[in-house]
Amino acid sequence: MTPQDIDAVCGLVYDLCGIALDNSKDYLIESRLAELMKREGCANYVEFAQHARSSLGDLKKEVINAITTRETLFFRDKSPFEALMHKAAPELVDEKSKHAYDRRIRIWSAACSTGQEPYSIAMTLMETLPDYRNWNISILATDISDDAIERASRGFYPPLETSRGLEPRYLGKYFSPQDGGHRIKDEVRALVSFEKVNLLQSFAHLGRFDIIFCRNAIIYFNPEDRKRTYLNLANQLTDNGYFFVGSSESLMDLGPRFQPQHHCRSVFYQPNRQLPDFILANKVAATKPTASAF
Ligand SMILES: C[S@@+](CC[C@H](N)C(=O)[O-])C[C@H]1O[C@@H](n2cnc3c(N)ncnc32)[C@H](O)[C@@H]1O
Repeated sequence: MTPQDIDAVCGLVYDLCGIALDNSKDYLIESRLAELMKREGCANYVEFAQHARSSLGDLKKEVINAITTRETLFFRDKSPFEALMHKAAPELVDEKSKHAYDRRIRIWSAACSTGQEPYSIAMTLMETLPDYRNWNISILATDISDDAIERASRGFYPPLETSRGLEPRYLGKYFSPQDGGHRIKDEVRALVSFEKVNLLQSFAHLGRFDIIFCRNAIIYFNPEDRKRTYLNLANQLTDNGYFFVGSSESLMDLGPRFQPQHHCRSVFYQPNRQLPDFILANKVAATKPTASAF
């Protein structure tokens, strides 16, 4: 790839989904986009990028599906789900039980990939709250990739995927064998709804959540977009909410607004209640629209 090819593709990918590639990623671009470029009959990547930008069909979506890293597994890193089970969920339920009217638990799995994360959250809650049917639990699972959302929504996993992170006990209890793989049972699926959301565009309309998981996605953004996106996500959290990020991610760059909480080997974040109200109430006007055209 020429430097012009790399610049053109990096610009296209950034505008479509905020992923910050650089010239060290030529192998990744080639391995993920070469086929699309060939199919579209483009002579080089500069031509391909221009063609994709002006495309009115599905090409932009296909670029996003091809370039995003969707690596995920059930109960990824394990400890956040232990913290959810032993700390966040019991505390939340205790707090809400003080108010007879408040039986709603809203959770957001932002950048959910093919669904392993939201289904792991759902199974954790079902294990933790024997009376979960008496709670109005909704888990919103979102991603920028149509392909990922479609697969997540189907809830079917081949053996290679169910062999990663899922205890055999959970496989038997929450999945049904089907077509050589397993499908998530309806009672788990019913807790989760799926929607396409680009984290670099406004998502204020989604409302507020008691718990947000946003793990291993924002890490691909540049530092400025990363900070802005974390602030936007933080604004969607309830005052006593819980924010889980990936094991190599942190909210420490956001200043004192969030307090890290440690539980066993896991760290999650909560709004810092010791800060003066005017700081907590300071909702940063952080959303920046991207040039993404879908
Ligand atoms: C590595 S996966 C992480 C999945 C899961 N959260 C986990 O930790 O296992 C990253 C996901 O982020 C999604 N993603 C990338 N850019 C995004 C954006 N701008 N908005 C929303 N999702 C995005 C990708 O499509 C991909 O599914």
